[in-house]
Amino acid sequence: MAYDISRRRLFGTGLAGLGLAGCASTGATSLSTATEAAFPPGAAEPDIFGPPAGLAMLARNENPYGPAPSALSMLSKAAEKGAYYTSFEAMETLASLIAERHGLEPEQIVVTTGSGEALSALALMYGPNGPIVAPRLFWDTTALYAANLGLANIQRVALTPDMGIDLPAIEAAVTAETGMVQLCNPNNPTALVLPGETIRPAVARMSEKTTVVVDEAYIELADDPAGTTCIPLVKEGKDVIITRTFSKIYGMAGIRVGYTISSAETAEKIRATAMSWTPSTSFAAAIGCYDDEAFLHMSRRKIVEAREMVTTTLDTLGLTYLPSQTNFVYFQSGKPANDVQAALLEKQIAIRGQYMDYTSWSRVSMGKLEDVERFCRALPAVIGA
Ligand SMILES: Cc1ncc(COP(=O)(O)O)c(C=O)c1O
Repeated sequence: MAYDISRRRLFGTGLAGLGLAGCASTGATSLSTATEAAFPPGAAEPDIFGPPAGLAMLARNENPYGPAPSALSMLSKAAEKGAYYTSFEAMETLASLIAERHGLEPEQIVVTTGSGEALSALALMYGPNGPIVAPRLFWDTTALYAANLGLANIQRVALTPDMGIDLPAIEAAVTAETGMVQLCNPNNPTALVLPGETIRPAVARMSEKTTVVVDEAYIELADDPAGTTCIPLVKEGKDVIITRTFSKIYGMAGIRVGYTISSAETAEKIRATAMSWTPSTSFAAAIGCYDDEAFLHMSRRKIVEAREMVTTTLDTLGLTYLPSQTNFVYFQSGKPANDVQAALLEKQIAIRGQYMDYTSWSRVSMGKLEDVERFCRALPAVIGA
């Protein structure tokens, strides 16, 4: 995590700050009295959700314009029924909505608690069969999770000189012994996209030898999502699994909904491997906003506006960056990325630190426009321009 949600912050307000001082001194306080004391009518609720006040959070590729009102109204209805486990009707409704949009069957969709859970499950399913072949730089958290458990090895394939995914080299690395291939399109942290006409034939060929997972967490932000996605390969019956999420364009990272798209047979195996039961509130929020075109359009517009602000700043400073089709920009500041991160944090601006040995490359996420503006104003001094 790029900043410290510290014990200091959680407890620094002290009991008095949380309205608990009174109940601590009275000793035998009933639970309801304690709750009233903690949240006396009209008192501000403790600020424990989202980034701390004053911090420009540009480190985690979230969309601060979410969740959509359409998501929140459904979520609150589900919360009222929070006594009950998630109903099959809710599960079927979301799976059907997703399937219908892509001309698939609901059985081909597995909803998970964020796409991270799905990707972790896939790493556990396929990792023991052989190496996970992937580009050198990709969102490797879930592959590392399986690797740290001794259940997978990651075989990283060098990027092209311009930081792209080297598909021919990845193809050459795939054998019948490969556990799975994992691609991220658009990629994180590079933000680069492989067009459909490039990625699809390569994925189709690789899927003859092994399972290919394509992580499409940011695909709704690509210039041409329909032309970029590998979903057509699933429809053609290839051994391909797509993962997607409500954490990015839908602005629901904290609500935790992701899903896989695969054959019904593979979906059955993924369901058996996934570990959590996604909350009914998460299903509700996703159902509420899945088709909310007005919200998606607004989010895309804000993200593109922020991206243009960042790239204009980088152009002015003469810095190199990769063309982004996501809600983050990977740029070369010429300074150690961790130093840039630390200097910005002193100004209450959080961005990502260094990836692997890409020392001078930094990743900044598109947060609220005013926060992105703070980053753009602060950057020149931080890099000594
Ligand atoms: C490329 C990519 N895939 C998947 C995820 C996981 O997201 P979530 O578990 O919130 O769906 C992330 C998170 O940042 C990501 O960057």
